[in-house]
Amino acid sequence: MKSAIFAAATAALATGVAGQVVKRQSGSLPVVSTQGNAFYANGERFYIRGLAYQPGGAADAADPLLDMDALSRDIENFQTLGINVLRIYTVDNSANHDEAMQMLDEAGIYLALDVNTPDASLRRDSLDALHASYNDEYLQSVFATVDAFAGYNNLLLFFSGNEVINEPSNTNAAPYIKAVTRDIKRYIAAQSDRTVPVGYSAADVSENVYPSAVYFACGDDETARSDFFAFNDYSWCDPSSFTQSGWDAKVDLYSNYSLPIFLSEFGCIKGERQWEEIASLYSSDMTGVYSGGLVYEYTEEGSGYGLVTVSSSGDVETNPDFDALVSAYEQTPVPSGDGGARETANQVPECPAETENWEVSPDNMLPEIPQPAVRYINNGAGDGPGLGVNTQNTGTPSDTDADLSNGSTSTDTSDDPDSASSGSSSSSSSDSSSSPSSSSNSDSSDSEEGAASSLNIGMGGLVASLVAVGALLL
Ligand SMILES: *[C@@H]1O[C@H](CO)[C@@H](O)[C@H](O)[C@H]1NC(C)=O
Ligand SMILES: *[C@@H]1O[C@H](CO)[C@@H](O)[C@H](O)[C@H]1NC(C)=O
Repeated sequence: MKSAIFAAATAALATGVAGQVVKRQSGSLPVVSTQGNAFYANGERFYIRGLAYQPGGAADAADPLLDMDALSRDIENFQTLGINVLRIYTVDNSANHDEAMQMLDEAGIYLALDVNTPDASLRRDSLDALHASYNDEYLQSVFATVDAFAGYNNLLLFFSGNEVINEPSNTNAAPYIKAVTRDIKRYIAAQSDRTVPVGYSAADVSENVYPSAVYFACGDDETARSDFFAFNDYSWCDPSSFTQSGWDAKVDLYSNYSLPIFLSEFGCIKGERQWEEIASLYSSDMTGVYSGGLVYEYTEEGSGYGLVTVSSSGDVETNPDFDALVSAYEQTPVPSGDGGARETANQVPECPAETENWEVSPDNMLPEIPQPAVRYINNGAGDGPGLGVNTQNTGTPSDTDADLSNGSTSTDTSDDPDSASSGSSSSSSSDSSSSPSSSSNSDSSDSEEGAASSLNIGMGGLVASLVAVGALLL
């Protein structure tokens, strides 16, 4: 897949397509890419030791990379923790992020970015709403976010969606999420001079998280397959253990999975947080299958998950679980060697069978990209709309019927006169259910009938699904 993207990107450059993604900086951190079922930087296995960061929460949806005072204050704590990745759920794609990305680079920190915002995201409340929300104006916002971040060497990856599927009953959003993943990958191949891993962050809904993982990894269209899979997991509640938490079964279940996997949120608060799971997550019990995870979350937003509390005057006070996390990381060095990762990808899995809990047939097609959005892939997305622009019911939807009976099975756009490259995929999503971030989201989105559901992330109701980039520089 990587080589194909590479080839596509090269072809795009060779044919004179002017990449919109400006190389923003060449900081000290090496670009991260995927191979087999793991991430690598400079040939070394890369483990995510990260933290969700969205001060103000999802409801506020402010871009934390624009508040330099708060960021420089918080970076001190990030360095005390020793983390190497921040996950941010919502950013303002109309702004320049050079200063913040440089500061993070200097602190040894990559960005895992959700590409959605609370208002520019898929809307999952019905098939018609989903169909309407997958439109050209939505994709323009997503692509503009890619433009704004793909050029940073310390962009790790992009999340095409977060917890869009948040119940047993809404798996019918999966083809739309997969279409967004495809479109993002296609955009990166055409417009960026590096690849960036793109994948989905799932809610840990026991009925469908595994079929989701398989679905986003399956199929003949390489561009529509994710580059990694991640899920939000709150099942390890101290005191616990590898077996008591059930994490042992989650290692077995994914042992043959074809893509890198990590926990896109973790940190149960049912017991007193001692962060015992850190020792397991970075031990040989798990490293053959998992590439680490992201603690949820930095600031206390009223749900009890915050490592620090920020006062109204902007002072930060660390909570007891912050100190416990510092000590858990100190006692758990980054594993050396390959951790048991598979260098060659496992076989692409068969798409999951349709069941009561997975309402997507293996024969199901994906919605075709909304026609007016093709020009963004060819010519670049243009200026980002910024926050506050709601795309959920605007623009032009896909020509494919909402039931996908006449969708496409591949991104082969040979009949598409102006497409410059083939393949890509991506998805976006929203959130809601099982995790704190999503549930807080869902709280707010429920009151708006789910309108904001697709982007959320953490408590506040962020929605975003950033993806970070992390790819190879050509
Ligand atoms: C993984 O693949 C190996 C070799 O093909 C097989 O023996 C094993 O049963 C598989 N494990 C799972 C959990 O599917
Ligand atoms: C799918 O069918 C609908 C009518 O049901 C039609 O309007 C639309 O153009 C078709 N789309 C494609 C891609 O064939």
